[in-house]
Amino acid sequence: MTQPRNAVGVGHARVEGRLKVTGRAGYAADQNVEGMLHAVIVDATVGRGRITGIDTTRAQAQPGVVAVISHLNATRLTYRENPDSNHPPGERLQALQDDRVRFFGQPVAVAVAATLQQAQHAASLVTVTYDAEQPALGLDEGTPNAAQNYARGDTADALAAADVRMTMAYAPARTHHNPMEPHATVAQWDGDRITVWDKTQWINATQAELASVFDIPRSQVRVVNPYVGGAFGSALRPWPHVIIAALAARMTRRPVKLVLTRRQMYFGTGYRPAYDYRITLGADRRGRLTAMEHTIRAETSSYEDFREAVTAAGESLYSMPNVRIDYRSVALDVNTPIWKRGPGPATAAFAIEVALDELAHRVGVDPVDLRLRNEPEKDEGSGLPFSTRRLRECLSTGAREIGWQRRARRPGTRRDGDWLIGLGMAAGNYHTVSAPAQARVRLNADGTAFVETASSDMGPGTYTSMTQVAADALGLTLETVQMRLGDSLYPPTPPHGGSMTMASIGTAVLNGGDTVRRQAIDLAVNDRNSPLYGAAPDKVVVRDGRLTVRDQPARAETYRRLLARNDRDHLEAVGSYTPNDAGQRFSMSAYAATFAEVAVDATLGLIRIRKLVGVYDAGRIVNPRLAESQAIGGMVGGIGAALLEHTVTDDRDGRIVNANLADYLVPVNADIPELKAVYLNGEDPHMVSLGVKGLGEVVHVGVAPAIANAVFNATGRRVRSLPITVEALQ
Ligand code: MOS
Repeated sequence: MTQPRNAVGVGHARVEGRLKVTGRAGYAADQNVEGMLHAVIVDATVGRGRITGIDTTRAQAQPGVVAVISHLNATRLTYRENPDSNHPPGERLQALQDDRVRFFGQPVAVAVAATLQQAQHAASLVTVTYDAEQPALGLDEGTPNAAQNYARGDTADALAAADVRMTMAYAPARTHHNPMEPHATVAQWDGDRITVWDKTQWINATQAELASVFDIPRSQVRVVNPYVGGAFGSALRPWPHVIIAALAARMTRRPVKLVLTRRQMYFGTGYRPAYDYRITLGADRRGRLTAMEHTIRAETSSYEDFREAVTAAGESLYSMPNVRIDYRSVALDVNTPIWKRGPGPATAAFAIEVALDELAHRVGVDPVDLRLRNEPEKDEGSGLPFSTRRLRECLSTGAREIGWQRRARRPGTRRDGDWLIGLGMAAGNYHTVSAPAQARVRLNADGTAFVETASSDMGPGTYTSMTQVAADALGLTLETVQMRLGDSLYPPTPPHGGSMTMASIGTAVLNGGDTVRRQAIDLAVNDRNSPLYGAAPDKVVVRDGRLTVRDQPARAETYRRLLARNDRDHLEAVGSYTPNDAGQRFSMSAYAATFAEVAVDATLGLIRIRKLVGVYDAGRIVNPRLAESQAIGGMVGGIGAALLEHTVTDDRDGRIVNANLADYLVPVNADIPELKAVYLNGEDPHMVSLGVKGLGEVVHVGVAPAIANAVFNATGRRVRSLPITVEALQ
């Protein structure tokens, strides 16, 4: 293929940036519909039990109040057969359907009124009485679900025979996503058709779930979501409030807007579950691993068994003959967790990478060298060769960038005034995945084009990167291509998550654009009145909307002229992507090495990050500026996980005590030092022709353990729980 690819690889600014900074990018809660009511959820104030009474008399008597809906009067909703929904057929919505309270903060009623203030006031007047029970909240208190096991070799024997054997227990805290934009839904029925404007990372799943629960065809559900103000995974599934908004709209026969408060987002959407992650490792005296045993437990709800890919790193990140993994979710009286950035691998990396640091210290081997000594030649979990794995290069580049040679061999021995200085590092990976996707590409008679695909853009820059891919495929400038996202009327896409967007949707856009360009070329070379008439199609290139026969610059014309002369008001194609079998033939991951320099106040235990360096093997980089922005965001999130973020639950009733952004700490500018992101040049040719591996998740994996290891190097104190607080260093 001779078509030049000029836009891909360039660090273009966000095409929707101006709309966002001028407030013209409308988010879900910005949508207003004629005749719209406002809904406010009343949430449970006990963590487990039964509702014994709901008094709505006073609420209903208030001006503007249209309805107060609870299990006493709500329409019964039952999930139907639906392959795209989390819910088995026959299951009830986990809210407003019966008198059970399954977790603190569960919706128990919803007040619907003409204005938001009236709805808030009415909600505050609803009196609910409970028969409360003690909720099960700790990992030792709940019921373990069936284990997910993995084993190779004979781990027990190998551990017994190992020169060095160490057992450690790691405890990363429960954390919430806390996107800036609240979760919100606006629902409008028209007979048996519904339109919802909803904060979602997966338009088609929200569409499928609404269709299932209201028993209508998917074609009668439209989900619209052009802009998302961050999500990090919290919007990867519809939460009960989405269904409640639609239910309230149906029962009141009016459009309804429902916006979760910041506090309600802690109870009403998911979170990264707390883990108890135990590792026993065996190694020789030079730090070569012989065996690892992983015993992993994590929170889930009593009504859904949430799991994530937490076992993959233990299976294949390092070389060793013997591995045993036992992973169980534990059913508790909490709402269901959900994926949060780097879901699974980020948690596993904290345990494994700190464990390797502990081993390195014990055997007196440099932590970078220890990783290099345990670098596998193939994926020892699946037996497959790696498609591309350049972790060694990530490690050596990162070591150079941070100045690793400055690291003190003995912890706690480098000082800068009152501050103890430490360097630490961690490796990590995130599996490369992709899923079927489609995109419609249309070239207009005026020489502009637009592309439509259902995917969201929660912030990574999908509008921009997809515009680049489409512009190259069509041979247009970026300015003449418009990307349209976030509408179920557009061709379907997988979740905007799991770092799969560019491989999946990008390839659909590329294929659609290539098809349209070829249609135009065919039109030209078969058109007697075209200067390109008779040329071989594969000799025609398109640049800036102008078709030219290669090496014959005089034989050229624009898309505009071509379409006008042929009386075509547009050319169009739907591009599609279907994964090939590369995933069966190769072990595919993006890789990261993160290096951290920290300073710890020797007296007070305050931790300051001085510098972070991330080096990534993520395949081809479509937009370096956006990729850097992703890496910096991933590092900031990692600083939060390492030092600040912690959803604190009251163990008496399951109340989240810091359900606000004053008490739940996230990093601010003053917490963020120099961050440096380096993407290795190169591409992975095996999965998609774009050569990408995905980068949104891998940039976060490994940040928290790198910081934890740097804190150890600074202080000699090993903290195995997250976040690492001042108290933990006292
Ligand atoms: Mo990402 S956790 O798939 O939004």
